[in-house]
Amino acid sequence: MKISTVSELLSQDITLIDVEIKGWVRTFRANRFIALNDGSTINNIQCVVDFENTDEAILKRITTGAAIHIKGLLVESQGKGQNVEIQATSIEILGDSDPETYPIQPKKHSLEFLRENAHLRTRTNTFSAVMRLRSALSFAIHKYFNDNGFYYMHTPIITGSDAEGAGEMFRVSTLDAKNPPLTEDGSVDFTKDFFGKEANLTVSGQLEAETYAMSLGKVYTFGPTFRAENSNTSRHLSEFWMIEPEVAFMDLDGNMDLAEDFMKSVLNYVLENNKEDLAFLEQRQAQEDKSKPQAERNEMTLTDKLRFVVDNNFKRVSYTEAIDILRNSKPNKKKKFQYLINEWGADLQSEHERFLVEKHFKCPVILFDYPANIKAFYMRLNEDEKTVRAMDILFPGIGEIVGGSQREERLEVLKEKMAALDIPEEELWWYLDLRKYGTAVHSGFGLGFERLVMFVTGMGNIRDVIPYPRTPQNAEF
Ligand code: 4AD
Ligand code: MG
Repeated sequence: MKISTVSELLSQDITLIDVEIKGWVRTFRANRFIALNDGSTINNIQCVVDFENTDEAILKRITTGAAIHIKGLLVESQGKGQNVEIQATSIEILGDSDPETYPIQPKKHSLEFLRENAHLRTRTNTFSAVMRLRSALSFAIHKYFNDNGFYYMHTPIITGSDAEGAGEMFRVSTLDAKNPPLTEDGSVDFTKDFFGKEANLTVSGQLEAETYAMSLGKVYTFGPTFRAENSNTSRHLSEFWMIEPEVAFMDLDGNMDLAEDFMKSVLNYVLENNKEDLAFLEQRQAQEDKSKPQAERNEMTLTDKLRFVVDNNFKRVSYTEAIDILRNSKPNKKKKFQYLINEWGADLQSEHERFLVEKHFKCPVILFDYPANIKAFYMRLNEDEKTVRAMDILFPGIGEIVGGSQREERLEVLKEKMAALDIPEEELWWYLDLRKYGTAVHSGFGLGFERLVMFVTGMGNIRDVIPYPRTPQNAEF
């Protein structure tokens, strides 16, 4: 007989049929009621055991975490909160779980404890809901681009170039540690560490995506990227996933339109398709808020917050206007925002970003036209020669979620910029070729996938929205 999923059975309106199910025991009460979960939904199905006719040895092995196979009759449930339950006629233990040592007990565990048990944490409601949403968001992203005529391209993980020019790269090495190649002064020659060449893990697929945009028109990448920055915050990972569309003949305004439409579409998808998990996480957030001081509580419920983003226009503000707003706002030491007044030319701190989004505009904000010297080399210089056609999208509770720009398409301007930043032309000859042969206006952006998952799930720490977080302190699993 076909093995059903819990999700299928709970939405089944025909009862008195024989069913078969496999899953993991969440709880076993009174030698009679098994709450069984198989990952297909946040909900458990109740399986009622005929304990008088079940072998004592089997009953003892129905413990939290055990994998079991149940055959039985699907019947209407007498209990509250579920329509159906299974009257078990046969119980097979597939894999025991020692209750003395199984870490995931049926009680509330701290997120820190669960991080240490990352291999088992998806046996909890919170993490199964988060990871199902992560999966749904990935699908929604691919669907959006597929529906809108984009090609999915795979950019390399091992690369010779530093796409962001920030020097935050992990080296890829084939060096023989005992006998490394040496430079003339006797130190290790790291420029030869990948079979005689220099190589590192990619920080972004953008430069390669640009090459494909300039032939296929509309492309995107969605893959892992790596940053060797020593940032120990709740929003930074050493390994994170990034979505990067790149489009030929599109300027910065088109880029903003695309980003806004894309974000709204993806959020809409989960609002439509993942109601149960969102409702669970909404409840969880409300519960967490109760133990927080008033100022730190969420002003909106989780789904209201998503709906708010979907239903409202993102506010588009230039960097210069944003600095004026920050300068003219009084810091309030008692409240969350004790921001410093910023000088034109400085990068915004996350506190400034959150002030603009959460207190001033109270909606997602697209900041554009940043000072050239705080942004990457490839961004298009504006006529003022001081600012570049950059855009960052700031979200409530998250800060920067998207970074993008119109790219510098003029060969001479790009060369000058690279020379000023000591970026050798030999390293990016292929990138410069794009400006020699059929150059055109083009733009794109990068969405940090984990920051999107944080926003959707309401989880406060980026380590809790990726299966195995890699941070400067942790890459254990
Ligand atoms: O702003 P970033 O560095 O932009 C780029 O890499 C461009 N090449 C993108 C492009 O135009 N194609 O990164 C883009 C986004 C950020 O806005 C943020 O959401 C996320 O990636 N991000 C990180 N997420 C987690 N951990 C980190 N260490 C991150 N660094 C950036
Ligand atoms: Mg950025």
